[in-house]
Amino acid sequence: MNNWKHNHILDLSTFSLEDYNTIFELTTRFKDVHKSSSRKLPALQGRLIGNLFFEPSTRTRTSFELAAKRLSADVQNFSVSTSSLSKGETPLDTILTYISMGADILVIRHESTNVPAELANYVDINNINTSILNAGDGFHSHPSQGLLDLFTLATFFNPKEPSTNSLFNKKVTIVGDILHSRVARSNLWALTACGAEVTLCGPPSLLPEEFIDFVLNPPPGQRSDPVKKRGSVFIERSLKDALKNSDAVMTLRLQKERMKQNMLTDLDSYYSQYGITHESLKWCKKKVPVLHPGPVNRGIEISSQLVEDNSINLISKQVENGIPIRMALLYLLGLNKNS
Ligand code: CP
Repeated sequence: MNNWKHNHILDLSTFSLEDYNTIFELTTRFKDVHKSSSRKLPALQGRLIGNLFFEPSTRTRTSFELAAKRLSADVQNFSVSTSSLSKGETPLDTILTYISMGADILVIRHESTNVPAELANYVDINNINTSILNAGDGFHSHPSQGLLDLFTLATFFNPKEPSTNSLFNKKVTIVGDILHSRVARSNLWALTACGAEVTLCGPPSLLPEEFIDFVLNPPPGQRSDPVKKRGSVFIERSLKDALKNSDAVMTLRLQKERMKQNMLTDLDSYYSQYGITHESLKWCKKKVPVLHPGPVNRGIEISSQLVEDNSINLISKQVENGIPIRMALLYLLGLNKNS
């Protein structure tokens, strides 16, 4: 763990292969904690973690809470509806209140892109020893989801010893609303770092051509790419062609809350062109796993039958792996905190 250099976790574009493997090793160790009699480790005893979700969440919020509790941390949850935001307090003042209470780590979800990064900048310039962990900001980044998806796939390909090597040269197809998806962006950084080839598939309104260049340069403000050679990214408009050589398929929710206007008028037509179903999976040359980050819109991006078929979908495995992945992230950020 000595090589861990991140004081905040904001975006997977800053992660090296070594970072991914450090997280995978810890996740593998933490996977079994719930089988012990106490179901806990003392690693973060006395640390305070604020779980600040300014946007709705089920999976991410509850698994960060559970992960913190499994590491024996104190957790403060925040709910928009019962907070002083309704009295006019700003999100920044709300966050500063948690920092004043001594939060060691703040897990933040916000509908606006870059809120976690701006906050990380604020704590750094003010020498505050609080780490910021991005739990999803606008359509920018959802690092813990990208990591749990990566770990779930690595475990599928190599159940005994999941590592970044398990993804090398694998062909992963991501289907759907790429434009509004922070999950797709985080998966693009993570998968290409491991040498996977990613095919993006969707209509032009939800998948602009610019995505072909997404991982070619680090985002503005980041000096260099810590990964020497990334896997390639392709765009394919036809689902049949996209699925042909796939080793795994990820489908994404249509994110209507992030669409500036109604970009799809005919959901039936979208489902018939891009819906992942038992029928469309017949275009794959072999039996492949299907991932979905959740929440699912049944009958829009994936069939209800497929959601219920866990011989094919890895949805419950993704949720299960979310806990040890988030334990690993909290553990790593907690390493440099004073007791
Ligand atoms: N995948 C995901 O972020 O789900 P939640 O919105 O329920 O946290």
